[in-house]
Amino acid sequence: MPVVVIASSKGGAGKSTTAVLLGTELAHQGVPVTMLDCDPNHSLSIWARKGTLPPNIQAITDVTESSIVKTIKQHDTDGAVVIVDLEGVASRMVSRAISQADLVLIPMRATVLDATIGAQSLQLIAEEEEAVDRKIAHAVVFTMTRHIRSKQERGIEASLREAGVDVVEPPLHERAAFSALFEYGGNLHTMENKQGNMDAAIKNASAFARAIYKRLAEALA
Ligand SMILES: Nc1ncnc2c1ncn2[C@@H]1O[C@H](COP(=O)(O)OP(=O)(O)O)[C@@H](O)[C@H]1O
Ligand SMILES: [Mg+2]
Repeated sequence: MPVVVIASSKGGAGKSTTAVLLGTELAHQGVPVTMLDCDPNHSLSIWARKGTLPPNIQAITDVTESSIVKTIKQHDTDGAVVIVDLEGVASRMVSRAISQADLVLIPMRATVLDATIGAQSLQLIAEEEEAVDRKIAHAVVFTMTRHIRSKQERGIEASLREAGVDVVEPPLHERAAFSALFEYGGNLHTMENKQGNMDAAIKNASAFARAIYKRLAEALA
């Protein structure tokens, strides 16, 4: 089954949030999910240990540079979508994860700084493609977007699209419910302390997960 690697050398780009939203929404839609925490800061494990893990989700903590390829290969065969959350650095661990990916997601805020650092992640993927001698599907995910896109945001998105980069639609909006996942654990559907407009948050996350699932189906076809 498919391996989705969430990578960006920028800390705070929204990687772990993207990983948890994707994992919990796919699982909610009935897809078995295995999440690998490959970040020494353990954001994913912090989420997993709050409350109870939702059905269809397994979380593996403490994946290291030495164990990452073996761990991905092992879970790749058990029928689940494997989601890999990484630290915001460029490291051997990140390269190894990308080399195993069916799809790499690059979360970024639509700012000039994030787009510049995001471009380094695109370069890293190109280098891994060369190393493993195959194309690795990848897409940029805009995170923490506001409803009304600024001129700068639209400009960044347009220049990525012009360069032939796949940009996921919808982006992940800035939502209190998304950051609250790390406070309460679980998923958006079971969150007891409602945060902001839950319906809009769920609609956004669910459409996002479907957009990724569609790409996975295409990548594996
Ligand atoms: N779409 C979003 N809406 C609201 N808050 C967000 C969103 N994405 C990320 N955040 C918040 O921004 C911070 C960094 O996000 P995180 O996912 O941990 O980034 P990374 O894993 O790339 O370092 C966290 O405090 C997180 O709760
Ligand atoms: Mg993180």
